Amino acid sequence: MSVTSRKILVTNALPYANGPIHIGHMLGYIQADIWVRFQKLRGHECHYVCADDAHGTPIMLKAQQLGIAPEQMIADMQQAHQADFADFQVAFDNYHSTHSDENRACAELIYKRLRSAGHIKTKTIEQLYDPERKMFLPDRFVKGDCPKCGATDQYGDNCDVCGATYSPTELKNPRSAVSGATPELRESEHYFFDLPAFEHMLKAWTRSGSLQDEMANKLNEWFEAGLQQWDISRDAPYFGFEIPDAPGKYFYVWLDAPIGYMGSFKNYCERTGAADFDSFWQPDSNAELYHFIGKDIIYFHSLFWPAMLHGANFRQPTNVWAHGFITVNGTKMSKSKGTFIMARTYLDHLDPDYLRYYFAAKLSSRIDDLDLNLTDFAQRVNADLVGKVVNIASRCASFISKKFAGRLAAQLHDTSLLDEFEAAADGIAQAFEQREFSRAMRDIMALADKANGYIADKEPWQAIKDPARAAEVHEVCSIGINLFRILMVYLTPVVPQLSARVQDFLQDQFVWDSYKTRLLDHPIKPFKALLQRVEMTQVDAMIEDSKALNNAAPVTTSDNSELAADPLSAEINYDDFAKIDLRVVRIVHAEHVDGAEKLLKLTLDLGGESRQVFAGIKSAYQPEQLIGQLTVMVANLAPRKMRFGVSEGMVLAAGPGGSELYILNPQDGAKAGMRVK
Ligand code: MSP
Ligand code: ZN
Repeated sequence: MSVTSRKILVTNALPYANGPIHIGHMLGYIQADIWVRFQKLRGHECHYVCADDAHGTPIMLKAQQLGIAPEQMIADMQQAHQADFADFQVAFDNYHSTHSDENRACAELIYKRLRSAGHIKTKTIEQLYDPERKMFLPDRFVKGDCPKCGATDQYGDNCDVCGATYSPTELKNPRSAVSGATPELRESEHYFFDLPAFEHMLKAWTRSGSLQDEMANKLNEWFEAGLQQWDISRDAPYFGFEIPDAPGKYFYVWLDAPIGYMGSFKNYCERTGAADFDSFWQPDSNAELYHFIGKDIIYFHSLFWPAMLHGANFRQPTNVWAHGFITVNGTKMSKSKGTFIMARTYLDHLDPDYLRYYFAAKLSSRIDDLDLNLTDFAQRVNADLVGKVVNIASRCASFISKKFAGRLAAQLHDTSLLDEFEAAADGIAQAFEQREFSRAMRDIMALADKANGYIADKEPWQAIKDPARAAEVHEVCSIGINLFRILMVYLTPVVPQLSARVQDFLQDQFVWDSYKTRLLDHPIKPFKALLQRVEMTQVDAMIEDSKALNNAAPVTTSDNSELAADPLSAEINYDDFAKIDLRVVRIVHAEHVDGAEKLLKLTLDLGGESRQVFAGIKSAYQPEQLIGQLTVMVANLAPRKMRFGVSEGMVLAAGPGGSELYILNPQDGAKAGMRVK
């Protein structure tokens, strides 16, 4: 296949900056990463950019709850996100934030162009307002009784019990999820983007690309229901960008979120000079632009975003590719079952290539949900990657090392299987191109079966016993290694770390076209285990850690129903309080923990009983400062298994964080073991 170089820009949906990355999120980032790595391996100019989605009410409130500035919170979160992505080998060319100068410039430019083209309208609307916190309340921040079935404690947009949807003003006994106050109706002027004006353009866009069937159907439903004006403003207090010439009004987070793709790319172009911004975004651009997203955010990407771009005289996406949701062991990820697995928890126990391969083996171009069945995961990775692919090398390499001075044969006579492996390249490339990764994996594993069949048939371990057959063994094993090499070229986008070890072992550097060449009379390194088997004990330990983690700290999730909500718990009753066993304790020992950035390991004396606790106070205290001090602990917290050991409680500290963190220090007279009342 002759390949002319393409110019491609790829994005994946931007993760919210109010919570950690979990393995559900990872599906999209890995899917896009495999596709990008494939394009790069083929020699195309392909850029993969992303950013944290840092604006909106939930992020503002979460920062308030933590007692830190939102800028601080989003900076910390971005660092954690980037570490997770890097360790999963998701190789972004640029990672930025929507709370950036570049994004502000792009958002203002797009808004002003839309405004001068007459696509921005204003209208006064009525909305629930929290008089205590002095803020308007998004739907998910109002709770009350369902107007249909009367179920209590329901969100302002729909009822969990009877499924009814309604507006928050219809709730009975409404209260603010932020403060508990009774909300009141207030008027405010809002800014709207005139989406209906773009119906014609959107229909044309829908037909121009090859949209996924499910996506095209959704769009048709929305066209039939009629497009609505889109509310793009929010009143202060809000964490975001103020709208030009509209003091106290902010862009709704979903306005500047997709613009964040541009903002990140702009930052990348200016920082590295690796690409020319305009040539990717001007209306007549010949570059390709693809957005990978989850199925919950199709509306924003297939209606608002192309319309905004068009209205502001930018090019439209070449395509928007949606994927389904991850379930674990057949159901929604669950905190209590320990299947709400954070990216970091996975990485603490398992090799990222395993999950990348498993996702690839199950992904198609469709929007179906994808089940991560953990038993199947272990079996599949072991059977395919270890049992089929790596096995080819392990069966051949030791003979090459021991009997043939680590050098592959100079000539191969029976090339029929090599020819067959080579001929499969175009089909596999096409499957990658079309995001039919499961088909690519199936084809690759079928070839691996053939390679293993060939070796089993030739039985080099028998032949080697006869010195007269040495040349034959050399040829068989050299063919085996070359077959293995071709498969690993094909698998490179999927399992980059395994591929890097293989390239080192073969003393080779892969590009896609490497499949056309043979390694002949070529030195290879002695074989070392290239990939360990997945052990169920590792999987079980990951589940246990997830349970412990979710017990210890609630994780923020978002469902994008309108806004990601993390309502704060307003109050607890006396019984809730009485359950907490607070004790005065003496810190008898404190030490650093190898490999832990934030933790100190404390040994606490509860007046005879001793406890070990890991406390996140390293940024504020040296261990020596703590020894001998009194403090307060939660003594009846369920023990939590951490990477460094079991933590048997929590010590109480106050302050915004960093060096400003103070453990509670009871006065003289208090004794270790006393209850705190
Ligand atoms: N911030 C928005 C996206 C803005 S894009 C301009 C958002 N953030 S998110 O953190 O909630 O989700 C990030 C991505 O992860 C989205 O594509 C979302 O669909 C995807 N997923 C979140 N949970 C998921 C699963 N359980 N399974 C698969 N993908 C999931 O939406
Ligand atoms: Zn109801």
